[in-house]
Amino acid sequence: MESISVGLLGLGTVGSGVVKVIESHQDKLMHQIGCPVKIKKALVKEINKVRDVDIDTSILTLDPEEILLDPEIDIVVEVMGNIEETKEHLIKAITHKKHIVTANKDLMAVYGPELLTLASEHQCDLFYEASVAGGIPILRGLVDGLASDRITKMMGIVNGTTNFILTKMTKEGRSFDDVLSEAQALGFAEADPAADVGGLDSARKMAILSTLGFSMNIDLDDVKVKGITEVTEEDLQYAKQFGYIMKLIGYAHREGNRVEVSVEPTLLEESHPLSSVNDEYNAVYVYGEAVGETMFYGPGAGSLPTATAVVSDLVGVMKNMRLGVNGKSAVSPQFMKQLKEDDEIYSKHFLRLHVEDEVGVLSSITSVFSKNGASFEKVLQNPLGEEKRAEIVLVTHKTSLEGFERVLEELRDLKGVQFVKSTYRVEGGDA
Ligand code: HSE
Repeated sequence: MESISVGLLGLGTVGSGVVKVIESHQDKLMHQIGCPVKIKKALVKEINKVRDVDIDTSILTLDPEEILLDPEIDIVVEVMGNIEETKEHLIKAITHKKHIVTANKDLMAVYGPELLTLASEHQCDLFYEASVAGGIPILRGLVDGLASDRITKMMGIVNGTTNFILTKMTKEGRSFDDVLSEAQALGFAEADPAADVGGLDSARKMAILSTLGFSMNIDLDDVKVKGITEVTEEDLQYAKQFGYIMKLIGYAHREGNRVEVSVEPTLLEESHPLSSVNDEYNAVYVYGEAVGETMFYGPGAGSLPTATAVVSDLVGVMKNMRLGVNGKSAVSPQFMKQLKEDDEIYSKHFLRLHVEDEVGVLSSITSVFSKNGASFEKVLQNPLGEEKRAEIVLVTHKTSLEGFERVLEELRDLKGVQFVKSTYRVEGGDA
């Protein structure tokens, strides 16, 4: 091959990073694939916009078909975002025999299996390392690095915006809204931060991670999602008192072949490796039966970090082109999906209750717990400013989700309990 031609769909933050990495690492790319890599065309929304990358404007186009139908383009790099329209572009590219590299988690979480099947039918590669945790090579870590092991648990801090917000709230005692504005100004929140703070962005990434890690098709709808919008500074302070740090954790656990996948604000023991992942950084903790505990850490977003993942995927496609094995790596899942029921999901729980400070209230709360097979590991009571009211904060021993939901339902109706202020899952301490 004299050179490999790439068509770029999108020239925003990640697209500009891809141009820079290809230019500045051309020697290394040449060494690995044996020929130069050339960006032949780039799809943009506006030709004459000021950009933070030097690019010959004659290769810019407003028409996607100039890329998707160009017989000289070997690989389409999709960094434009969006779901439905982009999916149609990729289908067109694949049916015109182009390999795909995408950073689009929204698309892959929903249409990944369909697009991978189509790509494999056309002997095309479809790689998407950049879609989860930006610059961290976690997908290759799971699929290649841990290919020989049986992964039983993954816990991910896979959204930089929420990690930044929770870190600042914990360390600086600031409010959720205040820190969210700063995250937006710094540019790592999505245009619509609802997907970040509501947990959907993490859920998309966990659907991708658990599909690969457990080798079964996990759909976005299989992921239980709770975001961080209700988290208060008081919750974080109580958590600290009990020796926990709050993180938005994507949790994927397999027992036998039954799995649970969720995203929720979680209290982690301070000694857990994920507790020290701060600010906008991402990390994925992976437990394999043979390897034990591993953790992948790094920048989860940003122009150059995300571009390294995209360009590494390009190298993967180009190596396959030289070997003539494109489209062969998309193996179908090994297992049928089996999701755990709530009575199979066990964890500790943190609970804050406002109660009337009267004789017998604590003992009737204890009865509700014991009736449902649950018990306390830690408990504290604080008088509230108002007369004869108190706050009870506790952490349960491990209990089933079903049992804990029953406890909550009964506590809400219990005489002496005014309301349940907050509840969170608690993790750590065991693999
Ligand atoms: N909004 C995402 C984050 C960007 O905050 O992590 C990377 O997917």
